[in-house]
Amino acid sequence: MAEDLVTLAIAAMQRAYAPYSNFPVGAALRAQNGAVFSGCNVENAAYPQGWCAETSAIAAMIMAGETRIVEIAVAGGGAGLCTPCGGCRQRLREFASDDLLIHVCGPEGLRRTVTLGELLPLSFGPDNLR
Ligand code: THU
Repeated sequence: MAEDLVTLAIAAMQRAYAPYSNFPVGAALRAQNGAVFSGCNVENAAYPQGWCAETSAIAAMIMAGETRIVEIAVAGGGAGLCTPCGGCRQRLREFASDDLLIHVCGPEGLRRTVTLGELLPLSFGPDNLR
């Protein structure tokens, strides 16, 4: 079921603009209505102005009018697992629950699947403000 997301995240990784870190990342998510959105990291000469692949994919989803994420794949290089950074865990939390499946990928394919609850336990979210 996640295979399309894995393929799209790896393809998005190849579109990354990452001339400063040389660490391209791609993300592809499935929204609740079944639509799929992908994005890449976009860096900037003023370093803090760059943003993550997950952020790009979330922005595309919001532009399409969707607000729930049911599954996501993230692809990055290196020997380690390219898990979402702390900021992106919180951004995902805004639109997903603890059981969100996060498929962590390398350029060769799926490496490991984790849940958002594992990466961001006891999280603060929209419900806290209701
Ligand atoms: N990066 C992402 O795109 N997503 C993550 O969750 C981890 C980090 C990007 C940000 C920066 O462009 C590069 O990877 C190196 O940190």
